[in-house]
Amino acid sequence: LYAHAQAPQAQPWWRRRREELLQLARDGARYVYDLASVRERAAALRALKAPDRWFYALKANSHPAVLAVIAEAGLGLECVSLPELELAAGLVGPERLLFTPNFAPQAEYAAAFARGARVTLDNLHPLQHWGETFRGRAVMLRVDLGSGRGHHDKVRTGGAGSKFGLSLDQLDEFRRLARELDLAVVGLHAHLGSGILDSGHWREVYAQLAALAQGFNRVEAINIGGGLGVPSQPLDTPLDLAALDAQLAEIKAAYPQFELWLEPGRYLVADAGVLLARVTQLKRKGDYRYVGVDTGMNSLIRPALYDAWHEIVNLSRCDEAADTLYQVVGPICESGDVLGSNRRLPECADGDVLLIAQAGAYGAAMASHYNLRAPAAEVVI
Ligand code: LLP
Repeated sequence: LYAHAQAPQAQPWWRRRREELLQLARDGARYVYDLASVRERAAALRALKAPDRWFYALKANSHPAVLAVIAEAGLGLECVSLPELELAAGLVGPERLLFTPNFAPQAEYAAAFARGARVTLDNLHPLQHWGETFRGRAVMLRVDLGSGRGHHDKVRTGGAGSKFGLSLDQLDEFRRLARELDLAVVGLHAHLGSGILDSGHWREVYAQLAALAQGFNRVEAINIGGGLGVPSQPLDTPLDLAALDAQLAEIKAAYPQFELWLEPGRYLVADAGVLLARVTQLKRKGDYRYVGVDTGMNSLIRPALYDAWHEIVNLSRCDEAADTLYQVVGPICESGDVLGSNRRLPECADGDVLLIAQAGAYGAAMASHYNLRAPAAEVVI
């Protein structure tokens, strides 16, 4: 079913490069990134006609080689912290730097202006208290359109219960403070969440922001966020880029005065990365069969945090029938340290290499040293 849902895409790169991956896993758990896949995704996005500018949300994967490929493809970089901004500033010019933090300290905004980045605000507080940093500047304003979307509650970023974005009922106050500080709002921004597969989503966001832009007189750009999903469940349908482009072109024709910006993260890198882990121990308990590997939620926290589903294959036994039902677990002292539950795999043995797919986005980026276990090292091919 998974293969079917992926059609007509070719088989994933990692099936073709099995031998190489088995070698790479010899010295312990590894994240492996296929740079050609990143390049392909970047080119596919850049080929769309409606968007004017792309900013890669580097929080998804900030490996230097991955960033270099993306910068070379002509995308800008969307950053949410000063360290991200400093990394990005080494790769692209200031006109390709976008700073979109949330509850950042004053000094980070000042540093971002000093670097020439386009800065996004999403609260009144900075204007109320840090006038010296914002006086006379030009900024983007992130608004909360009232609802969120995405693959899990924890990645939806809209509505009063979410900490992101300026509430629409505070727009007048924001405008008043901006006038006082001679601050120009040159763009509006909204990002409703992550892992969205419905191509119509971004059209709606553009329409709502373009309507709000009528209340400002210097808006030049509309940033409709990221969130471009990749199929993450066996029956998910991939995002239809051609449909996305057509819908964006249509709504842009209604508001041709604005530049259209997007800031995807996951879409560029998720499928380009895999996590390789070696089987350490096997266990039988009641009706359950456990296969333990040498890394877990310290490398990939997404299954524990969002119940995210990642395809798992036994790379050492690709040709054998997958007829044993396993709980695939890591070595971390938490019951939630499960990489995949109820997975059919060939009978596993210690030393086998398991591949956890679609781990290029928010994998290594969210890794930790929990239990003092170093997360999987990263390599690129
Ligand atoms: N723009 C803003 C303002 C964001 O907050 C994010 C992601 C993006 C763009 C990029 O979103 P993407 O295109 O990658 O969906 N750790 C979660 C995802 C959290 C996303 C955080 N913000 C996960 O593993 O699913």
